[in-house]
Amino acid sequence: MDSLRFLRPTTLLTLTFFIVCVLNSVFAQSTAAGARPWMNASLPPDERAALVVKEMTLDEKISLLHGTGMDGLSPISPLAIHSNGGAGYVVGVPRLGIPAIQMADSAYGVRASGENGRYSTALPSDLGAAASWDVDAAYEYGSLIGREVKAQGYNMSIGGGVNLARDPRNGRNFEYMGEDPVLAGNMIAGLIRGVQAQHIMGDIKHYAVNDQESGRNAVNVNIDKRTMRESDLLAFEIGVREGKPAGVMCSYNRVNGDYACENRYLLTDALKKDWQFKGFVLSDWQGAHSTIKASAAGLDHEEPGEIFFGDTMRQAVQSGRVPIAEVDDHVHRIVRSLFACGVIDDPPQKSVVDVVGGFDVSRKIAEQSTVLLRNENSQLPLDASSVHSIAVIGPHADVGMISGGGSAQVDPPGGNAIMPPGKGQTKWQDHVWFPTSPLKAIRAKAPGAKVQFASGADPAAAAALAKTADVAIIFAYQWESEGMDLESLSLPEHQDDLIAAVAAANPHTIVVLETGGPVTMPWAGQVSGILEAWYAGSQGAEAVANVMFGAVNPSAKLPITFPRSEADLPHLHIIEPPRKSTTNGEPDAWKRIAAGLPAFQTTYDEGLKVGYKWYDAENKPVLFPFGYGLSYTTYGYSNLTATPGGKVRLTFTVANTGKRAGVETAEVYASLPASAAEPPKRLVGWSKVQLNPAESKEVVVEIDPMYLSIFNVDQNAWQLVPGDYTFLVGGASSNLPLKQTISLK
Ligand code: BGC
Repeated sequence: MDSLRFLRPTTLLTLTFFIVCVLNSVFAQSTAAGARPWMNASLPPDERAALVVKEMTLDEKISLLHGTGMDGLSPISPLAIHSNGGAGYVVGVPRLGIPAIQMADSAYGVRASGENGRYSTALPSDLGAAASWDVDAAYEYGSLIGREVKAQGYNMSIGGGVNLARDPRNGRNFEYMGEDPVLAGNMIAGLIRGVQAQHIMGDIKHYAVNDQESGRNAVNVNIDKRTMRESDLLAFEIGVREGKPAGVMCSYNRVNGDYACENRYLLTDALKKDWQFKGFVLSDWQGAHSTIKASAAGLDHEEPGEIFFGDTMRQAVQSGRVPIAEVDDHVHRIVRSLFACGVIDDPPQKSVVDVVGGFDVSRKIAEQSTVLLRNENSQLPLDASSVHSIAVIGPHADVGMISGGGSAQVDPPGGNAIMPPGKGQTKWQDHVWFPTSPLKAIRAKAPGAKVQFASGADPAAAAALAKTADVAIIFAYQWESEGMDLESLSLPEHQDDLIAAVAAANPHTIVVLETGGPVTMPWAGQVSGILEAWYAGSQGAEAVANVMFGAVNPSAKLPITFPRSEADLPHLHIIEPPRKSTTNGEPDAWKRIAAGLPAFQTTYDEGLKVGYKWYDAENKPVLFPFGYGLSYTTYGYSNLTATPGGKVRLTFTVANTGKRAGVETAEVYASLPASAAEPPKRLVGWSKVQLNPAESKEVVVEIDPMYLSIFNVDQNAWQLVPGDYTFLVGGASSNLPLKQTISLK
């Protein structure tokens, strides 16, 4: 105490105030923790949730089971004034310290920021990111989304699309992770871990087999269980197991008769029982169709309104038609997710989005996602010191690059490059060109060259310009969006003709594709270079220019097959819903929907043969195969050893046989014993190897036994079929120089 005599009175006052504050806060915390034992962060999330749920009234429980409405979809509740402006808002239980849930669509960045006067970083499309085959990059991708979701005041991200690309014309493929369940599942798990590491709830969607947009609310998908478990559901199984998402969004379509959001097999048997999913199932927006059936099947939460899980649910509970234990389970899953993800202990504080930092991440991932598909006579990389003139050609290539639409749409800083300044807010299904200018990026890379632009609207003028240049670079695009499928895989707006005309005028023509997924390329043999840039995000042009001029050596590989033509697909057309009919006697699709009947059917009779498995099994040549992508260097493979064990262990050597440092994705496929009756081969693992020129490394890949198994429907279990397994290793599904067969029991 003596020492206090030496303190000045003001300091003493401050010190006393500080001590009182500390004591107050300790006291407040201990009373809160005493009164609210679930606020004790050292307890496991399930215990914390159980403590809260015990305290809740029925009304409080019901309030967590539904959203409060969304403009244009269902009536908005007065409570929605507290919404943060995202797709979903769920009132919390302030009495018990349970916060509101603020959900943001965020497939490749946070959606609809423009509407709220905010902006978000646009990452490359999800399919683009899958081309990196880099789970760490997926984690970074998710982390960025998590950070921006949080900075904008949300606590749940509802991106996370992982439907398998069964048909390359699905309009949402750009939001998904490709055609292989092992690649897609691992990539989505990385993304979810990144999101949730920011103390934001993540979600994977659209569960399940929502593989076409046409008539998505009415279609009944017929698919056998084994196929489902080994293809579409496997991506979700891996995503759930490895990513532990808070949410799984059930889809609009029916699967084998029942709507996905009231499908007991999907929601309870597979997801909650077999995969031990601990989070909650939320319906896609207006994808719920009932109270009693959906609740019993495993739907936990209805979005965006309360048609089935509000008052109707309360009455069903009160009349004993829905057991309270079922409601408690729904509520427990929601509350435990808030605890498990750290949302309650570390709630979002609105803050400034780190645009500059975000651009950096976006550019790096775009560089890792750009696939070099063709490089005749080493046309690329371009040498800025020896190229004197460049013709940059293509719609809007002077100002921007196209992005994917629908609920995934991001409004990046600067807004839509083809709209007047200040008109940054995008409307549903606008074509949004991100303000990342290929022309400017190329000019910056080649300051000594004469770089000129032609939009391509006049193909003859574009060809004339190309003729005068050392190199012609065409930026071609194809737009995709939720709510529609592609009619064909051809580039729109006569771009094939434009490319053919330019290629005829200049033998050094390079095509950069800004597409959601595969396109056909009748001109492929006439151009010297092709780069697939996907929807490349906020920094797409800079990333493409870095690859094109060699600052980055391309390393991405296709996560989806590029077929030669639609005629080679398992189905010539995507089945469309029948047109509304008023003729007597004709089935009227809309009446059938109203009567609760499936309006139309689609049958995935190609079974297990999805993507490359189809082309392999049917011996159909493709334009560019799954897993394919060139580099500016070359790689050699040798010394494969496969060792059986709990996990089969493969070792092999990869060497850089070229002149540049690079990163090779070494891919491992397996052919199962004939008695397994599987397609010829499946991806079972991969490894990314960084190599300097002349360097070689030994690579070890351990294979998860599930990836070698088949799903035995009778036993409802994964099963390893005893017999000979052939392991194939190389740089693309079509180029696997190493091979070894071992017997597994
Ligand atoms: C989409 C979901 C999206 C939701 C909310 C639906 O139409 O299918 O992916 O999260 O809308 O915007």
